[in-house]
Parts: sequence; structure tokens; C-alpha cells
Amino acid sequence: MKKTLFFSSLGIVMILVLGAFTVYSEQEKTIPGIPEDVNQIIQNHCYGCHNNDGKSEDAVEDLNFDEWENYNPMKKTGILNDICEVVTEGEMPPEKFLKKYPDKKLNDEQIKLICNWTKTANKRELR
Ligand code: HEC
Repeated sequence: MKKTLFFSSLGIVMILVLGAFTVYSEQEKTIPGIPEDVNQIIQNHCYGCHNNDGKSEDAVEDLNFDEWENYNPMKKTGILNDICEVVTEGEMPPEKFLKKYPDKKLNDEQIKLICNWTKTANKRELR
């Protein structure tokens, strides 16, 4: 009897751990087709506004990372150029948002990573 109890509690603990893991990895949704390091920056600094459930329609219309895979090469090329431009100019993340969340500001290293990616990805799209 005691043994059964032990094994069933073990089972419950395992289910809980696995469950927590699933919920966690769902939040860390990576965008297909974007390298890991850039993906992390985008998840952290951009995705919150630029996804299917984004609150600003303008933001989602301009760029929706949930639709990234479905953009045709023409559209992707244009957006890739825009992405490098807005981060270099400091237009994204928006200033208003950064006032509230200063830690969301991109540093030079992150901006460089993003632009290196957009340039490489663009060459690939245009080939
Ligand atoms: C707080 C919400 C928010 C965050 C965070 C955010 N954006 Fe935006 N983004 C917007 C809004 C709103 C627009 C559309 C209106 C505008 O251009 O200001 C937009 C527009 C854009 C556009 C189109 C701009 C143009 O001129 O066509 C690009 C590209 C873009 N965002 C990239 C990014 C990138 C890259 C990040 C992360 C580094 C990011 N955004 C983070 C809200 C956000």
C-alpha cells in the first residue's frame, strides 16, 4: 500500500513537472526561419506587439511575426529592410513604450545582430 502511494505521488510530480515545461516552452515560441540569437531578441523586444494578438492594429498590420513564414519573398525583403532601419534609427521599440519599460531598449550589439541577420536573409530571399 505504501509503495503504491509512493509511486502514484511520483507519477503526479512527474506530470506536474512536464506540465510546467509545456507551458513554459509555449511562451518561448520561436519564430521559424529566424536564427536563434535574433529570435531571442525579437521575442524579448518586438514580438509582444507584432503578433496575432497584438493590441495595435497598425503594428500587426506592418509586421506580424506569427505570419512571418507566410510572407512572400517580396514582402519579406521589404520588411527585412524596414526592421534594420527602425532599430538603427531607434524607432523601435517605440519611445513611449521604452519610457515604461526601459530594459526593453536594444543595445548596439543587439542592433548589429539584427541588421546582420536582415542583410543575410535578404540576400537569400533575393536569390
Ligand atoms: C509597444 C509596441 C511595439 C514594440 C515593442 C515594437 N513595435 Fe514595431 N511597431 C509598433 C507600432 C504601433 C507600429 C506601427 C506604427 C508606427 O510605425 O509607429 C510599428 C511598426 C513597426 C514597423 C513598420 C515601420 C514602418 O515604418 O513601416 C517595423 C519594421 C517594426 N515595427 C519593427 C519592430 C521591431 C524590429 C521591434 C523590436 C525591436 C518592434 N517593432 C517593437 C509597435 C511596437
